[in-house]
Amino acid sequence: MIPRSFIEQLTAQCDIEDIVRSYVPLKRAGRTAKALCPFHSEKTPSFVVYPENQSFYCFGCGKGGDVIRFVMEAEHLDYPEAIRFLAARAGMAVPEEEEDGTAARKMRIYEINREAARFFHKCLKSQAGQAGYRYLRGRGLSDQTITAFGLGFAPDSWDSLRDFLQKKGFKREEMLDAAVLARGRGGHCYDKFRNRVMFPIIDLRGNVIGFGGRVMDDSRPKYLNTDDTPVFKKSRNLFSLNFAKGEADGRLILAEGYMDVIAIYAAGFHNVVATLGTALTEEQARLMSKYAKEVVIAYDSDGPGQAATHRAINILSDAGLSARVLHMEGAKDPDEYIKKFGAKRFEILLGNAGDATTHELESAKKALDLKTPEGRIEYLKRAVNILADIRNPLSREVYAASVARDAGVSVESVNAQAAAVMKKKRRQEEAREWRDIETNREMARDRINPEKAQNIRAAMAEEGILAYMLRHPDECGRMLDAVSDTDFITTYDRKVLSAMRTLHGEQADITLTTLSTLLSPDEASGVARILARSSETPVTAEMAEDCIRTLAQERQRPDKKAVSAAAPEDIERYRQILKQKK
Ligand code: UTP
Ligand code: MN
Repeated sequence: MIPRSFIEQLTAQCDIEDIVRSYVPLKRAGRTAKALCPFHSEKTPSFVVYPENQSFYCFGCGKGGDVIRFVMEAEHLDYPEAIRFLAARAGMAVPEEEEDGTAARKMRIYEINREAARFFHKCLKSQAGQAGYRYLRGRGLSDQTITAFGLGFAPDSWDSLRDFLQKKGFKREEMLDAAVLARGRGGHCYDKFRNRVMFPIIDLRGNVIGFGGRVMDDSRPKYLNTDDTPVFKKSRNLFSLNFAKGEADGRLILAEGYMDVIAIYAAGFHNVVATLGTALTEEQARLMSKYAKEVVIAYDSDGPGQAATHRAINILSDAGLSARVLHMEGAKDPDEYIKKFGAKRFEILLGNAGDATTHELESAKKALDLKTPEGRIEYLKRAVNILADIRNPLSREVYAASVARDAGVSVESVNAQAAAVMKKKRRQEEAREWRDIETNREMARDRINPEKAQNIRAAMAEEGILAYMLRHPDECGRMLDAVSDTDFITTYDRKVLSAMRTLHGEQADITLTTLSTLLSPDEASGVARILARSSETPVTAEMAEDCIRTLAQERQRPDKKAVSAAAPEDIERYRQILKQKK
């Protein structure tokens, strides 16, 4: 455990507004600052920073907390890791701590993965790995490339990695944690990767976090990937980003798979990454946007590859990246293309990669005959939809002109139709975001304080008391004397109150940060939410007294469920936020 006093010192050094600003552009408006939420994708900001109480809360996705929680989410770190991260940033030394369970467990997984990667690599270079070595060389990889990526071979055996790791002192449970072992139905454990060439997956700090393994024939599955573990989430990582991030220079190449990345890298383009056996996620797009402004999509030229390209264009542009699309002919994927035509031609291809809109407009023409009126009408319909997605009016103009030319109509009519579609889309978008806020509001409420819906009056009073205490630390003693934990009706609010009592008993300050040390991240989000609301309508001493009285009345009421489950004041508050957003 890291001492609470240190955590308080640290958060006092780390201004939440500064830290958040280093991740997203923040717009200050009065006492609060707003941004597009970095944790979910949205077009109008519902993420609010409250400098006065050093908290944040997103009204869209319900995430909230103090600066430590922000870093946990933004950097994908656990609690102690986030503290170390902030300490390093602030130039403070974290006092020696006793071993924290999860940090220690993760360390062991990293060690196992590193040893396993060494084992696989050694194997590839030995007699036992000849088949793998021949396979990789047969696919055109040089020794240098094999070494650069640390490629390896998992022998055709059920237990050789397990025995190797056992000798190194790792326990079976730890190997299962790292997912290098699989458990059979009878409970016995065996090596997960067998008779496959191995691709280690390395994170930004140089840790081996997982593996991909490919068969050497046509058997299935072609690739096997490490399941999600405490150190590895497929949807959050990108293959080869460890190499690419330093070489990006504003631009990344996004390929479909391991072999494409390696071929492109070997051809001299080191700024290439791939997803790990899943479609591109919003998280991965945001990760890329840290290192690049522009992404060249270099997916397979087949049907599924093109469908994935269309999806990726949308996800990338939502993350603020501009997408370009590699147009490949005569080869099914970049690996094959480079083999057939060479690195020079691939470089030209990269240079010619069209912007996403041109690509989309070209695909819209597929299977249409623009010489016929029907063909032109259908094209116009599709094209207008694509134009409506372009946010920059000037670029929309430019494309509208070329659409008008191809469809044989006037620019004015293209513009008019695009404007109509845009209006419709904007209405749909607003309706969707509003629905999201509504459902998230329900979900956030259900998740954090499921009893609130049934005890709305009591819960509002409880929140009022908690808010008052959070905003008036000097009043905490008095309030804690005035209410006992059992006065609170909902379990969640009672838990927060009792955490406050604990802190008060230990003579610690009652802040979001100190409370977070006693609560789960979701529970801390609930406290951030209370703070966010109280920032809009501050709770006065009289109101706090009212809350205590209300609570007493509610306790006396025989049928607590009689009150409507809807919270009109809540809904009104969200309406207002939505209005502001507009
Ligand atoms: P592809 O089937 O296009 O393979 O899958 P590839 O990259 O061209 O590989 P080679 O050239 O046949 O060796 C693209 C990516 O999808 C994931 C892998 O990440 C692969 O690189 N994939 C594919 C899996 O995770 N599992 C599979 O069974 C197949
Ligand atoms: Mn391939």
